[in-house]
Amino acid sequence: SDPQPLRDALLDWYSLVHETRGMPWRKPYDPSLGPGERAQRAYEVWISEIMLQQTQVATVIPYYNKWMAKFPTIRDLAASDIDTVNSLWKGLGYYSRAARLLSGAKKAVEQFDGRLPDNAKDMEATIPGIGRYSAGAICSIAYGQCVPVLDGNVHRVLSRVLALHAPPKAKQTLDILWAAAAAMVEGTACPGDLNQALIELGATVCKVRDPACGSCPLQPWCQAYQKQTAKSEATDRAR
Ligand code: ADE
Repeated sequence: SDPQPLRDALLDWYSLVHETRGMPWRKPYDPSLGPGERAQRAYEVWISEIMLQQTQVATVIPYYNKWMAKFPTIRDLAASDIDTVNSLWKGLGYYSRAARLLSGAKKAVEQFDGRLPDNAKDMEATIPGIGRYSAGAICSIAYGQCVPVLDGNVHRVLSRVLALHAPPKAKQTLDILWAAAAAMVEGTACPGDLNQALIELGATVCKVRDPACGSCPLQPWCQAYQKQTAKSEATDRAR
C-alpha cells in the first residue's frame, strides 16, 4: 500500500515534538550547504550518534556540548590524544567508543582530507566504530541520503507496525526490518527527519513496557495495535 500517508502522519508528529528535548546536534537539514559545511554536519552527527548509542539523550547533551567546545572540528579531534578524549568521556561509560572516535578522526584526516566518506557503504567499511546504524544516521541526517536506520527503537516500532512476533535477533527478522526501514525512507524528501521521527517515536511513545498507543501517529497503520498485541511484541525481544 501507499506508504505516503503513514510518512506524512509521522513527519507531522515529528515537527511538533522534535524540539522538545533540546538536542543541540539537531539542525534543520539544509540542501544548500556546500561540501565543507556538510562534512562539518557529518562530524557533529557522528559524535552525537556514537554518544547516544548506549546513553540517554538527557545525559548526552552536556557531554556533546563540552566535546564540541574542545573539538569543534574533526581535525581538532584528530590532533588530540587518548587521555584528553577519555577525560571528556569520563562518566559516559563504554570508553571504547571514545577511542574509536579518535582513531576514526585520525583516519579521516590522514586518508580522506579530513572528511568522513560521502556514502554509507564506504563510511561503514573504513571508519572504526561506524556500523550500519551509525552510517545510516549520519548519511540521512547530514547528507540527506535515503538510507535506513535500525536501532532498538526503530526495531520495536516496525516490529509492532508489522506485528512481526519473530525472534528479534534472527537474521531473517533483521532482514525484514532493515527492508521495512529502507522502504520507509526510500524516495522521501527528508530522510533524516523521517529516521529521527522513527527513533523518537520508539523512545517516547512506542515504549517497551507501556506503549502510548492513544497518542501514536502510526496507530491507524499499526497491526499490533489492531490485534492488541503491542505489549507482547516488545516482550518477544527478550527471547
Ligand atoms: N538516539 C539515537 N540517535 C538519535 C537521534 N538522532 N535523536 C534522538 N535520539 C537518538
